[in-house]
Amino acid sequence: MTEEHVNNTEVRSLPRIGDAAPQFEAVTTHGNLKLEDYKGSWVVLFSHPADFTPVCTTEFIGFQNISADLKELNTELLGLSVDSISSHIAWVRNIEENFGTKIEFPVIADLSMDVSKKYGMIMPNESSTEASRAVFVIDEKQVVRSIIYYPLSTGRNMDEILRLVKALQTADEHQVATPADWQPGEKVIVPPAATQEGAEERMNNKDYECVDFYFCKRDL
Ligand code: BEZ
Repeated sequence: MTEEHVNNTEVRSLPRIGDAAPQFEAVTTHGNLKLEDYKGSWVVLFSHPADFTPVCTTEFIGFQNISADLKELNTELLGLSVDSISSHIAWVRNIEENFGTKIEFPVIADLSMDVSKKYGMIMPNESSTEASRAVFVIDEKQVVRSIIYYPLSTGRNMDEILRLVKALQTADEHQVATPADWQPGEKVIVPPAATQEGAEERMNNKDYECVDFYFCKRDL
């Protein structure tokens, strides 16, 4: 990974959609884990700014609430913040005591910021001591498939994260795209025609609902 400094800010080559997910080994609430341990499963790797903070607490409960649905999609959750392992353990115990939710996914204690810097989770001009609210969706071949960033002040939408994983997997399985606000069970977008003949064919395809040659939907 290349590194340079611009205006005293460390600039790294950060993972982008389509890149191989940067490998790491980390200390977590479930013991030491490597990203490569997850090969064959999808991973939602997410960072949160700090333990024992209210927005993060609501997010942890939210992530736990979607974890069973994610598991059905062969997708594992992996949390991260730059807090210590003792802090993580105390916080997840506290969440269970106060809110009745047992956090079952592992949480990385990234005190060295090794993982968070590799993934560009630290936004130095927002906070140099906390990770932002980043979400990396990594597929079963360990390719980064989607990246979401939210600021410290705004909790993420769990339904959207679940929808995103479903949409990515649907696109892979059926070679289609999904429209705005798509929900499973709804029509999907047929990929664009590559030729004039292909455009003609799709307009005449009874299984497609076409408004124009570039805009066709179909049921799965
Ligand atoms: C929170 O989770 O409540 C929070 C964390 C860091 C900054 C602002 C809010």
